[in-house]
Amino acid sequence: MINLAILISGRGSNMEAILRAVKKKKIPVTPTIVISNKPDAKGLKIAQKLGVKTAVVESAGIKGGRWEYDKKLVSVLEENNVTPKNGLVCLAGFMRIMSPEFIKHYRGRILNIHPAILPAFPGLHSQRQALEYGVKYSGCTVHFVDEGVDTGPIILQAVVEIKDNDTEESLSKRILRQEHKIYPQAVKLFAEGKIKTSGRKTIIS
Ligand code: GAR
Repeated sequence: MINLAILISGRGSNMEAILRAVKKKKIPVTPTIVISNKPDAKGLKIAQKLGVKTAVVESAGIKGGRWEYDKKLVSVLEENNVTPKNGLVCLAGFMRIMSPEFIKHYRGRILNIHPAILPAFPGLHSQRQALEYGVKYSGCTVHFVDEGVDTGPIILQAVVEIKDNDTEESLSKRILRQEHKIYPQAVKLFAEGKIKTSGRKTIIS
């Protein structure tokens, strides 16, 4: 069985959607650990209520490059038996860019959810970017994490229509509902070994 780790920075609603699907035995993974880089992340309490171990690897005040921090993450992950052989690391609102070393270590075993139809609107405030651009549709994307920002091979996407009176808040809410559907689905596909990658493309069997 795959040992699942979820990395969060805040609310943790995607984490909750995944953990609830795991609890319902819909996803064949062991929910091993939830790690936050922020001690006050709301998601930590939710994970604890769901009976999942939590840890804080604080990022504030860390000196050195990204790898200095990510090294600490790798230690906690490996201590909890989330390894490059049996692990899956899901970024769920984890607001840090991973170092190339971390990505190399867990190559092909890191997933992320992004609140836009990539490659449109990568980075921060994607819902605001979509509204300001004036697109008629946006949505969300689950993708593998590679060395770029929101550039890895796409696994699943869901589309949301933008209404004339949408605000950043209303659009974010509708997109989030779709995030809660496709992220657990993508984790399930990974756990069942149904995702193959060929260059930039993924093939779902
Ligand atoms: C989600 O909307 C997720 O897509 C977004 O942060 C939110 C986290 O919410 N992630 C990014 O913008 C990453 N670039 P959550 O903590 O409730 O899952």
